[in-house]
Order: sequence, then structure tokens, then C-alpha cells
Amino acid sequence: MILLGFRRLLVVGVVAPLVALTFSGCSGGESDPDLSRPSEFGFQTSLKTTLVEEGRNAYQTYCIGCHGETGDGNGVAARFLRPRPRNFQVAKFRFSSTRSGQLPSDEDLRRTIMEGLKGSAMPGWDMIPARTVNALIAYIKTFSPRWKEKQPATAIPIVDDPYRSKEDKSEAIARGRAIYHGFATCWTCHPSYASESEINAYLVMMDKPASAGFRPNLMEADAKPNQEGEVIYPPDFHRDFVRAGGSVDDLYRSIAAGISGTAMPTWVDSMVSHRTSDPSQVVTNTADLWAIAYYVQSLILERPARLEPKTLAVRERTHRIYAEGEAFEPVHDVEPMTTDEDFEGDD
Ligand code: HEC
Ligand code: HEC
Repeated sequence: MILLGFRRLLVVGVVAPLVALTFSGCSGGESDPDLSRPSEFGFQTSLKTTLVEEGRNAYQTYCIGCHGETGDGNGVAARFLRPRPRNFQVAKFRFSSTRSGQLPSDEDLRRTIMEGLKGSAMPGWDMIPARTVNALIAYIKTFSPRWKEKQPATAIPIVDDPYRSKEDKSEAIARGRAIYHGFATCWTCHPSYASESEINAYLVMMDKPASAGFRPNLMEADAKPNQEGEVIYPPDFHRDFVRAGGSVDDLYRSIAAGISGTAMPTWVDSMVSHRTSDPSQVVTNTADLWAIAYYVQSLILERPARLEPKTLAVRERTHRIYAEGEAFEPVHDVEPMTTDEDFEGDD
């Protein structure tokens, strides 16, 4: 009882005058009961500053643990994460609708924040109100001068899908398989899903010479370092998550735009090809990019419901994989492929 009494006294004695002071400070003695507005007490400068302030608050609540106080990607949890949280000071973003090396659009950042990046520690924050997400975007941009220095890039339009209205996607998938293996040779990094002789047939079909030899472990992804020097694996679509979404539009965006800071190229500008013997004949065109998206999605859909733990490699991913997209309990007898030595090497 005594304690309770004392607490009450504290509240009335200390907090109440403070509150009174604050309100009288901002509106000439009249109290302002509308606390739902962002908290600027009398010295609001501009809407933008307020948005950045609001972003800072939200950032400190939700993002700081991974992306760090100063936005350098070194939050307390970062040490345990692979891939590591993005460093906003460097401002090299990956998943965007803009060409490789260009800054993402606000829409891209919004999508990443709201939906997260599957197969990494980056969660989806769809419970954060739209205004706060805008504030977070504004705040993230304060960490790097690149946002002021670089011109905003144009997003690659996600249009002209010739297969959209067709119920049966088998034509798209078959064409995509031919383009994946024969024209774009995605298997130089990602796994091949066709035999060597099938690949050669596809190469000839695309007016290219058949290949004299193939890389070892053709049916597996080939490790490629990213710009931070981490060894990352292009996803095996039969096994791994794609981070930026698995809808046909998402896949089209990722493939067309490429993934900045990694080996994954921008494809949208290099899809048109002509026959060497007769340049008036088109072998591939931009519509084929849609075919690849349908094909990659068909591979994702073939993913088994659950992979055998013994067949899994953790690689750079933090979660092992369920086709439904849930992480499951770590299985301790599976050795991660990344070692402590690599890990120290990043710092
Ligand atoms: C639990 C750790 C964690 C938290 C919390 C977290 N992130 Fe991330 N975030 C990551 C990781 C890890 C990556 C890198 C994933 C990758 O490379 O695939 C990332 C990447 C990003 C990217 C980069 C996307 C790109 O295209 O490169 C943005 C933007 C981002 N996070 C924003 C946020 C915001 C805003 C918050 C708070 C609302 C937040 N993150 C909270 C772990 C986290
Ligand atoms: C030179 C190597 C290379 C080639 C060629 C390549 N990729 Fe990639 N791709 C990568 C790497 C590396 C990543 C992983 C990036 C990451 O996780 O940060 C990737 C990621 C992806 C993703 C996942 C995006 C996401 O949301 O996580 C898709 C889809 C993809 N590639 C499709 C393709 C297709 C289709 C082709 C051929 C048209 C292709 N790639 C060719 C290296 C390559």
C-alpha cells in the first residue's frame, strides 16, 4: 500500500507537470489532445522532416536489431545471419525493378519491406501501416548520399505477357525450358534441368554452336561471390527459395532486371536475337522473357513438399526449406556449408 501510494505520488508529482509543460509549450497554454499525430512539439519544420523522424522511430523499433543503429547492417543479430542484413550506408540494393546497379524504386523498397525476402532473415512487415512504411523508406535514404547523387532510375515495365490470357501454360513452359537452356544458358550458374544432349539440341535450335564440354556438377548451382565477397549460390529452383517472390510477375521482374551486386544479369536488354545466316529471321524476342518466368515457376511448383534433411545444405540461407515456405526446426547433424573462417572473413 505504501509503495502504491508512493508511485501515485510520483506520477502526479513528476509526470503531470511535465505533460502540462509540454502542451503549454506548443500551443500557447491550450492543451492538444490529439496525440495520434507524429510528435512535433511546436517546432515542426517540414512534412519531410516529420516523415523522416517518424521513420527513425519505426526503424529503431523494428529494424535496428539487424540493420544497426547507423544503418551499416551490423545490428546485434547480424553476426548470426547469412546473407547479412543490407548495409544502408553503402546503399547497394539487390531486388528491384530497375536494372542491375541502379537504385531501387520506392515501390521496390515498399515491396521488400512489406513482403520480406524469403529464405533470408528479412521478415515481411505487412502489419506496419502504409504511412509508416513510407516513413521508413524516407529514413533509410538518409543513411547514404547515393540517393541524392544518383538520378532516380526507370522501372522495367511488367507488360506484354503473351501467355497471360491462355489457360494452358504448357506452351510457355516448353518455350521457357528451351530459352533457359539454349539461349540464356542460365545453367552456367543455376542448375541445369536438362541433360547435356538436350542442352545441345536447344543450343542448335537457338542458332548457337553445340557445347563441347559442360561444367562439372551441371545439375547443381555453381557458387558465385557477391559484391561483399560472400559466397552465394544461385537458387536451385527445385529446392531453394526465390527471395523476391515466386509469382510470374515477380519472377519476370527479377529475371528482367537482374539482381544488383550479384552475378545475376539484367536480361531485359539482351533477349532479341537473329539467325546468323539470315538476320531477318528472329530467333528469340522479348516475349521469351515471359516464357522463362513461366518455366522457372513450373520448376518451383515441382519442389517436393519436404526435402529430406540429409540432402539439405544450408549454404548461405538461414532457414532450411519447406515448399510451403515455412522454416522448420534446425537439424543439428547437418553441417552448414559455410565455415567460421568465411564468417570472420566478412567483417
Ligand atoms: C531479423 C533481421 C532483420 C530485420 C529485423 C530487418 N531486416 Fe531488412 N534485411 C535483413 C537481411 C538478412 C537482408 C538481406 C537479405 C538478402 O540479401 O537476401 C535484409 C534486406 C533488407 C533490404 C534490402 C533489399 C534489397 O533489395 O537489397 C531492405 C530495404 C530492408 N532489409 C529493410 C528493412 C526494414 C525497413 C526493416 C524494419 C522494418 C528491416 N529490414 C528489418 C534482415 C532483417
Ligand atoms: C552469371 C551467373 C548467373 C546467370 C547466368 C543467371 N543467374 Fe540467376 N542468379 C544468380 C545469382 C548469383 C543469384 C542469387 C542472388 C542472391 O540470392 O542474392 C540468382 C538469382 C536468381 C533468381 C532468384 C531471384 C530471387 O528473388 O531470389 C532467379 C529467379 C534467377 N536467378 C533466374 C535466372 C534465370 C532464369 C537465368 C537465365 C535467364 C539466370 N538466372 C541466369 C546468378 C546467375
